[in-house]
Amino acid sequence: MNLIVAVDKKWGIGKKNDLLFHLKKDMKHFVEYTSGKTVVMGSNTLLSFPGSKPLKNRVNIVLWPGGKDVEGAIICQTLDEVFAKIKEYNPEDVFIVGGAMMYRTMLPYCDKAYITKVDADGEAEVFFENLDSLDNWVLEAQDEYIEDEGYMISFCTYVNKAPKAY
Ligand SMILES: NC(=O)c1ccc[n+]([C@@H]2O[C@H](COP(=O)([O-])OP(=O)(O)OC[C@H]3O[C@@H](n4cnc5c(N)ncnc54)[C@H](OP(=O)(O)O)[C@@H]3O)[C@@H](O)[C@H]2O)c1
Repeated sequence: MNLIVAVDKKWGIGKKNDLLFHLKKDMKHFVEYTSGKTVVMGSNTLLSFPGSKPLKNRVNIVLWPGGKDVEGAIICQTLDEVFAKIKEYNPEDVFIVGGAMMYRTMLPYCDKAYITKVDADGEAEVFFENLDSLDNWVLEAQDEYIEDEGYMISFCTYVNKAPKAY
């Protein structure tokens, strides 16, 4: 399975249960990668979306212990339930989309991580793992930096040499 995230130069990803930056080109990239696919998230990420509504045109799997039914989402009470649900889909079509806790939990199981690097300090409160410091993650490809809403961003692909089975 895959993971997709935007990080600042300290690998920060969020603050006050919101994104650090609102970037049009990065959002387009996210939609292109995830539309028609299955996205997996923690409860805080669902609650951070406009109206706390799941993402359109995607299967939304949400880990929310104690959470009630949400129209357009599959609410899982436990991590085991999440894994059981994910197994129903082609691993190539599954994307972990946050937040910090969900990324940390699922990172060892992911084959690929699509990382948007933002060359700025967003003064984050929550962080992603620094993949450059992990032996089994390798930077496979990196696009040129481009401008997006006044920030310089670069789309990167990291590959996990030893993903854990699930
Ligand atoms: N930069 C990006 O690309 C990006 C993408 C997505 C999100 N974000 C940001 O990330 C921040 C949210 O991160 P977060 O860590 O607070 O939220 P999160 O991972 O979305 O949600 C955390 C909650 O989900 C449940 N959960 C997640 N993993 C679990 C696990 N392994 N076991 C049991 N329950 C689990 C728990 O729910 P309960 O508390 O209900 O038990 C937990 O409190 C926000 O600032 C958001 O904007 C950034």
